Amino acid sequence: AVHPLATGTRQAQPLVQPSRADDGLLRFPTDFLWGAATAAYQIEGAAAEDGRTPSIWDTYSHTPGRVRNGDTGDIAADHYHRYRDDVALMAGLGLKAYRFSVSWSRVQPTGRGPAVERGLDFYRRLTDELLAAGITPVATLYHWDLPQELEDAGGWPARDTAERFGEYAALIGEALGDRVRYWTTLNEPWCSAYLGYGSGVHAPGRTDPGHALQAAHHLNLGHGRAVAALRSVLPASAEPQLSITLNLHHVRALSDSAADLDAARQIDALGNRVFLGPILDREYPADLREDTAHLVDWDELVHPGDLAAISAPIDLLGVNYYAPNLVSAGTGVPSADNARSDAHGVSDYSPWPGAESVVFHQPPGERTAMNWSIDPSGLHDLLTRIGAEHPELPLMITENGAAFDDYVNPEGEVRDPERIAYVRSHLAAVHDAIAEGVDVRGYFLWSLMDNFEWAYGYGKRFGAVYVDYASQRRIPKSSAHWYADTIRRNAVSR
Ligand code: NOJ
Repeated sequence: AVHPLATGTRQAQPLVQPSRADDGLLRFPTDFLWGAATAAYQIEGAAAEDGRTPSIWDTYSHTPGRVRNGDTGDIAADHYHRYRDDVALMAGLGLKAYRFSVSWSRVQPTGRGPAVERGLDFYRRLTDELLAAGITPVATLYHWDLPQELEDAGGWPARDTAERFGEYAALIGEALGDRVRYWTTLNEPWCSAYLGYGSGVHAPGRTDPGHALQAAHHLNLGHGRAVAALRSVLPASAEPQLSITLNLHHVRALSDSAADLDAARQIDALGNRVFLGPILDREYPADLREDTAHLVDWDELVHPGDLAAISAPIDLLGVNYYAPNLVSAGTGVPSADNARSDAHGVSDYSPWPGAESVVFHQPPGERTAMNWSIDPSGLHDLLTRIGAEHPELPLMITENGAAFDDYVNPEGEVRDPERIAYVRSHLAAVHDAIAEGVDVRGYFLWSLMDNFEWAYGYGKRFGAVYVDYASQRRIPKSSAHWYADTIRRNAVSR
């Protein structure tokens, strides 16, 4: 049976085109899904409660030297205990949707066998609370927190992890399928594969480029298995919307020289087509296989039937975008600089397996506190490219946002005009892409609130809501008020 509140949230028909009226407002389509996003390990805390056991991020963050300041997700924003207040906060902002992730270690601690009911109950309570507030839940099955036992058995470079992920997807689909319509299998598998197993700046912190590519394939396969599992357990009457979220890279070459253009091609293959190829076109690109043939035996890695499984139809593609990439051909890498421009940390290894002679450059212009350049045209160009290549596939911006050095002023307010400018300009880019015919269904701000920014710990704040970690007090920043107005108007000014 479908949860009574889960049915009112569907988008009944294709979205109408947006308009730009004389008032200068950029209007979004009716039913545009305005949301905010978080992830389990970044906000929940309660790391050892109700049967949860360590994931690779617990192990990694507790390993000295891995995360700045020794920060861990043990307590984080204590959302596990404060989810009711947090949903009330979302309702106050007028969010139409909320994207969260399920902690695999909370619901199936060893990565195998039956689910832990106490763990599932948390997500039942959370989604009930969301539905009661009229907020559409969007569930991500995997946001980087692999149960440690599965890592000990080989992690994502091992094929069995994909099979385990398919079974886990079935468990969650059965438990929440009556109330969740929007599902994302994996969040940014690029990070899981390349930062987790290539550069090692993310958990589990391994540095083997061959393993990184094996992980990428098994993440793709796990996605395919999860899609099949969800299709079989979810009630078809609820019209489930299945997706994967990719951090697609908008890549620009520093010059038109053949060498620089080839550097951009390599990064496009390793950053985008390694996922888009098998998922949407049922093949790994030939150039990717050639570039990486010295690192992995693709014929051995990809079993018969894998590509059919990975290319199971999806209903939506989730796109996360923060900054574009500027590359040239070069030598003398891997270097810390080369890794730093894209990894979420600093490493002596490039996160790009097989692209040892590609150099990343910092474009001139404004940057965020992450040192990521601010360039909404990258988002526009990415959306129009995907829209042109796959016009039938609806897109969702599942993350976009920025970290700035926010602080509470003497009046007790957090003023973040830079974040408002960032989000406004990126929304204008989304609006332009929609006006040009790209089917973008929604936008999720990263993040609802400040949280554990992986290797950077709590030092980087991405939230629309400020979290004072000592008291766990939430203070909506000016951007939160601005975002609420934007949702209410269904429009931004340019
Ligand atoms: C992408 C990831 O999905 C999210 O977990 C992270 O916090 C943001 N980017 C910002 O780096």
